[in-house]
Order: sequence, then C-alpha cells, then structure tokens
Amino acid sequence: MSQPALRVRGVSKAFLGLQAVSDVTFDVDEGTLTALIGPNGAGKTTLFNIVTQLYNPDTGHVELFGVSIDDKSSQEIAEMGMIRTFQTARVFPTMTALENVLAGAHLKVKSATYKQMLWLPGARREEAAILRKGEALLDLVGLSAFRDAAAGDLPMGAQKLLEVIRAMMAHPRVLLLDEPAAGLNDTETSELAALLKAIKLAGVTVLVVEHNMSLVMSVADRVIALDAGKIIANGSALEVRNDPRVVEAYIGRAQEGTDA
Ligand SMILES: Nc1ncnc2c1ncn2[C@@H]1O[C@H](COP(=O)(O)OP(=O)(O)O)[C@@H](O)[C@H]1O
Ligand SMILES: [Mg+2]
Repeated sequence: MSQPALRVRGVSKAFLGLQAVSDVTFDVDEGTLTALIGPNGAGKTTLFNIVTQLYNPDTGHVELFGVSIDDKSSQEIAEMGMIRTFQTARVFPTMTALENVLAGAHLKVKSATYKQMLWLPGARREEAAILRKGEALLDLVGLSAFRDAAAGDLPMGAQKLLEVIRAMMAHPRVLLLDEPAAGLNDTETSELAALLKAIKLAGVTVLVVEHNMSLVMSVADRVIALDAGKIIANGSALEVRNDPRVVEAYIGRAQEGTDA
C-alpha cells in the first residue's frame, strides 16, 4: 500500500546517438538508502540529471511520492523535497563553511523573508535554530575547525562533506548524492559513512552514486548496478555484489586497479 518515494519508469536518454541511459526502471522505497553503482560512463549522473529534471528524458516518467514530476522544474522538485549534490563539489568558494551550510536552509524558509523584514521574534528564533543545526552538522562531520574558513580554501574532501550537510539543511525528503566519497581520504570517508547512517536514521530517503564497495555494503539497503546505460542488477547489497554480471562489468574492472 505504501508508494515508493521515487518511481522511475522506462527512462532513456541519448546524446548524439550515444545511448547514455536505456529504458531504466526502478523504485526507491521511502526511508531506504539505495546505492547506484557502475563503471565510469555507465549513465549514473545522466540518470540523476533526468530524475532532477536537469535533462528531459527521451522516453519515460519519474514520480516523486506518487506525483509526476515530468513537467516540473528543478526548482519545483527541490521545493517538493528532493535535493541533490553534484559529482564535483559546488560550494560557494568565498563564503565561509558555516555560511555555505546555512545557505542550504534558504530553500525551506521562504516565509522568513517578510518576517525578517519585520524582525519578528519568530524569525529570530528560526534563525537561531538554523544556526544551531548548521553548527551541529559541521561538528557531526568533523568540520567545526573550518567553520569560519573560506569554503574554497578547504580540502576537496571537506568541500564534498560540506555540500552534503548543506543539502541536509533544506530538510530533504529525498536526497540524491552523486559520488560524495570521490576524493575523500579514509577519515573523511568514515565521517561520510557516519553521516549517511545519521541521514537514514532521520528518515530521509537516499539515492547515492558510490564506488566504494565497503561503504556501499555498510550503508545501502539496496544496490542498483548500471552498465552502458542499462540496469544489470537490482537487489540487496550482498546479492548485487555477488552478481556475476556486476563482478564482470564493475567490480572485476575496478579490481584491475584503474577505478577509484
Ligand atoms: N551532456 C552530455 N553530452 C554528451 N554526452 C554526455 C553528456 N552527459 C553524459 N554524456 C555521456 O553519456 C555517458 C554517460 O555519462 P554519465 O551519465 O556521466 O556516466 P557516469 O556518471 O555513470 O560516469 C557517457 O558516455 C558520457 O560521455
Ligand atoms: Mg557520474
């Protein structure tokens, strides 16, 4: 009876004859964390771009909590509660780490604008709560020391963690993370794993592109493997890791030592 958070049906996208995504169908159940794996060029980012309506698919449909989002803008989708991050961190480089995190809250506090003008007590309480939450999230991922540093000066891994917690400030119902662990060192990767577990505990539905199989195994309820634009496996982390097509298409190649 419960509908999935995200329903993707028959989605395809070609670029100049290259079939980047080919008839992809899957659900993401509410409150679960689904990992999307696959070699470089498999179509993972293109799929994210379709799901968030940055690209129109050539075929197929996407629903968010049972509502078609085929004709919605990326902004409308964000307002419906689906927030994404990008494969390459997009922090505001001259703003401080804290300011970057707080910026994430602006999606959800539109009503605050006129309240702020009038300087109503409610607005001040809201701002104080946002500040506390931002500081707590910085602390959670071990970035408190960078609170007042320009985000552009932070190490790449820190910038990527910053982007994830900025997304959390918008109170997402569905969070799409495109390779959040790429460029992270071991410490940052374990901060990310802890953060993902906390995000799950908060009841947020997550779809994450991730290559690090030990991270995937520790956090994912479900794993979808893409290769050459097509889903080649969809199941529990264990099932997908042991699927011969996945071993051949992805893990085998990664073990040859080229993939991160
Ligand atoms: N905007 C684009 N224009 C042309 N080709 C693209 C574009 N975006 C992605 N592609 C191609 O589509 C395929 C899938 O890319 P992508 O979705 O980025 O894969 P992944 O994220 O799995 O590495 C690749 O062959 C890529 O070169
Ligand atoms: Mg990608």
